[in-house]
Amino acid sequence: MKEISNAKELPKPSLRGLEGPMLSHIVAASENNVIGSHNALPWKLANDFIYFKNKTWGMPIIMGRNTYESLKKSLPGRINIVVTTKTNWHPEGIFIANNINDAIEKAKESDAKEIFIIGGGKIFEQTMDIVSKIYRTRVHADVTGDTFYPEINQNKWKLVSEKSFPADDKNNYPYTFEVWKRKEPA
Ligand SMILES: NC(=O)c1ccc[n+]([C@@H]2O[C@H](COP(=O)([O-])OP(=O)(O)OC[C@H]3O[C@@H](n4cnc5c(N)ncnc54)[C@H](OP(=O)(O)O)[C@@H]3O)[C@@H](O)[C@H]2O)c1
Repeated sequence: MKEISNAKELPKPSLRGLEGPMLSHIVAASENNVIGSHNALPWKLANDFIYFKNKTWGMPIIMGRNTYESLKKSLPGRINIVVTTKTNWHPEGIFIANNINDAIEKAKESDAKEIFIIGGGKIFEQTMDIVSKIYRTRVHADVTGDTFYPEINQNKWKLVSEKSFPADDKNNYPYTFEVWKRKEPA
């Protein structure tokens, strides 16, 4: 066996393979954390659609079956992965995963630098502890709804950027694009 006389000769550990893609939530939530009502969005925010499209374009998106039903079709330009317990269900343009881990593994096959979990409530709830970044559009209103986003725990999360906009004819409430990063690695 060849003796290694100098520690510098040891092969350097590679980070490749250890650094996975960023796992993120992207969500719009009112001041009282409502994200949905009767399987639809309880506001009209055209700029949030544009923001969502720009952030997620080309990336894998993971969603619950209800959210997929609310969209009524797959979102173009993105790898759509729908989490469902259904097995004999194969809508066009989407990948199906029977649990969240499988959805994430499927998303990783794309080699994208970021994987977006796009909702809804049930999927956000189950992945709150494993995401590293949250893009939250804060909708500055208290609205009535039936689906909620968890409160962001500021002991665990740091607000790293925010940009606010007033309501206008295409956005029916004022809103802030917030970006949160987890303080400790997920
Ligand atoms: N404001 C926002 O940013 C935003 C974003 C997305 C959605 N939304 C809103 O959120 C609402 C939908 O949210 P939701 O909580 O009702 O539903 P959801 O999270 O979109 O989907 C729930 C469904 O996903 C599947 N599922 C969840 N966890 C699973 C697991 N661990 N393994 C296998 N399957 C699993 C189940 O589908 P099966 O029943 O088929 O098994 C479950 O019924 C709508 O109002 C929508 O408009 C808002």
